[in-house]
Amino acid sequence: MPEAEVEPTLAALLALVPEGLEEVDRDGDVELAVYVDGAGERRVRAVFPEAESWPVEPGWGDRWRAFHHAIVAGGLWIGPPWEEAPAGLDAVVVDPGRAFGTGAHPTTRACIELLAREKRRGSVLDAGCGSGVLAVAAARLGYAPVVAVDRDEVAVEVTRATCRRNGVAVEARLADVLADALPSADLLVANIELDVVERLLARTASPRAITSGYTSGNRLRAPGWTLVDRLELDGWAADAWVRS
Ligand SMILES: C[S@@+](CC[C@H](N)C(=O)[O-])C[C@H]1O[C@@H](n2cnc3c(N)ncnc32)[C@H](O)[C@@H]1O
Repeated sequence: MPEAEVEPTLAALLALVPEGLEEVDRDGDVELAVYVDGAGERRVRAVFPEAESWPVEPGWGDRWRAFHHAIVAGGLWIGPPWEEAPAGLDAVVVDPGRAFGTGAHPTTRACIELLAREKRRGSVLDAGCGSGVLAVAAARLGYAPVVAVDRDEVAVEVTRATCRRNGVAVEARLADVLADALPSADLLVANIELDVVERLLARTASPRAITSGYTSGNRLRAPGWTLVDRLELDGWAADAWVRS
C-alpha cells in the first residue's frame, strides 16, 4: 500500500491483531503482514475484505518469537517469557498472544514513560487494559492500588494471568469505560482510540490522567483538563493531564 495509508491501516490492524504484525518494505510499497489463527483471519477480513492470506511457512514460530523483542520503558524491562531481564532492571513479563499490549507498541511505551515521570504515586485505573501491561508496569513503579478494566473478557482474563505471572496484586474487571461506573483512582491511564479517550476524560472523576492511542498529529479535545506533558514516539503520542 502507499506510504500515506500505512499509519491509519496500522492503527486499525493493531486494535484487531494483538497476535503480531510485521511491516515489510517492498520497493517503496509497504506490506503489512499479520500472523493469526482462523478467528483472527475472520476479524481482519471483516474490516479488510481485500486482505490476502497464506498458510504460515515452516519455522514461522521462531520468526514470530524473533519479532517479539523486549524493550525498556520507564526504567522497566518489558519482554516475553522466553527472554530474560538484565540484572538491575525490574521486569514486566508479558506473553504476546491473545490481548493487545506486549509493551512494544509506541503508545504503550509512551504511557509507561509518563507513568514513570509522574512525581506522585497513588491509585491507578488502567482503562482498556488489554494484556495488563500498563497495570503491571504501574504496580512495579509503585502505584497502588491498581484496578484494570476492559470490555473484552479475553483481555480481563489475560490481564489476570499477566498479573499472576508478575506476582502483582491488580484487580481486573470487565467494564465498558464509556458506559459502566468507573472505579475511582488518583490517576487514570487510557491507551484507547482518540474518540474513546476524549469521552472517557469527560466522564472520569480522576484528578490526573495519562492518555494515548492516537498519532502525534492529534490533539485531544479535553475541556476541564490542562495538558502538562506530552511524549511523541515513532509518530504516536501520549499526554499527561491534570484537572484545570
Ligand atoms: C490499544 S489496547 C491497549 C492495551 C494496553 N493498555 C496497552 O497500553 O498496551 C486498547 C484496549 O482497550 C479496550 N477497549 C476499547 N474500548 C473500550 C471501552 N469502551 N471500554 C473498555 N475497554 C475498551 C480494548 O478491548 C483493548 O484491550
